[in-house]
Amino acid sequence: MKNFKLAVVGATGVVGRAALQILEEKKLPIREYSFFASKRSAGSKINFMGKSYIVQELTEHSFDEGFDFAIFSAGGETSKKYAPIASSHGCIVVDNSNAFRMDNNVPLVVPEVNPEEIKNNKGIIANPNCSTIQAVVALKPLDDKYHIKRIVYSTYQAVSGAGRDGIEDLENGINHFQKTSNVNIVSSENYKLKKFPYPIFNNCLPHIDVFLDNGYTKEEMKMINETRKILGKPNLPITATTVRVPVFNSHSESINVEFENNYNLDELINILKNSPGIKVIDDVTHIKYPIATQATGQDSVLVGRIRRDYSIQNGLNFWCVADNIRKGAASNAIQIVEKLISNNT
Ligand code: A2P
Repeated sequence: MKNFKLAVVGATGVVGRAALQILEEKKLPIREYSFFASKRSAGSKINFMGKSYIVQELTEHSFDEGFDFAIFSAGGETSKKYAPIASSHGCIVVDNSNAFRMDNNVPLVVPEVNPEEIKNNKGIIANPNCSTIQAVVALKPLDDKYHIKRIVYSTYQAVSGAGRDGIEDLENGINHFQKTSNVNIVSSENYKLKKFPYPIFNNCLPHIDVFLDNGYTKEEMKMINETRKILGKPNLPITATTVRVPVFNSHSESINVEFENNYNLDELINILKNSPGIKVIDDVTHIKYPIATQATGQDSVLVGRIRRDYSIQNGLNFWCVADNIRKGAASNAIQIVEKLISNNT
């Protein structure tokens, strides 16, 4: 068996730490690991698989020693600079950032949806945006059978998607409320906000990533463009509203789809039940539907509230929840590494 070497870049961040936990669970045939972060946390220690590792500062020479694979979760700027350096040394980078997703030379991969794209990589494979990943896992089998004509996304996204600073903003809001019982924190005067423009505690913010000239946020355009690329439908009509909500982890999405073909609801539900990566939880008689706290810690995409949209022909509504840090980022990247390993052994 080959002696695979894996680097994790951004190992001290929210996604990086989840990646380490999943690597411990999965026990892949990897013999050597290295963990990189910024200068800030270089020298700190990480316990991994019963061993203590020193976090190294990421530099232009970090990849000189030759890695087989690297998982990057340290933001777009770090990926833009260092992923090409890593791949020029023969390392295949699985990149969690937005840096290369829409690059025609970079496959954008969700292993349940388009694993065949992995072999087209030229040294970098992009992991899609978290909210896109869970949506396409559910949509792909439906598109194969009924052909999607249009999608309307509305998301309810957890603060963990905004990294450690996002989590701290919610924690600080809760702490402030516990001290003051003041729910109406309308400005950041009461405590310092690290990530969001307004308190995320007790608010829903229709604003994820930056606003663009077309009035949409970058997150909304990521969902639109990435879904088109992954489903191989470059002109598919899609619209999206993405909202940050005061939930620590796991994104929830309301997805409205219009199909070309008519469908039978029972058959459609059976397709979802038998498709990879999906768990259907849909029993409203017993008040069962997917919720964020249930999705956290698992790799499945939970789907429920599956019902016909009677306002259009061949319309469908469903609710889709997944752990944005696991399936939306770390697990998806590690599944790609697993496929790369099996293609290499
Ligand atoms: P560090 O711990 O040194 O700040 P999150 O998204 O949870 O905030 O985590 C971001 C991750 O990306 C962290 O591991 C962080 O390391 C890392 N990171 C941020 N900037 C850089 C950089 N310029 N070079 C390497 N790693 C970086």
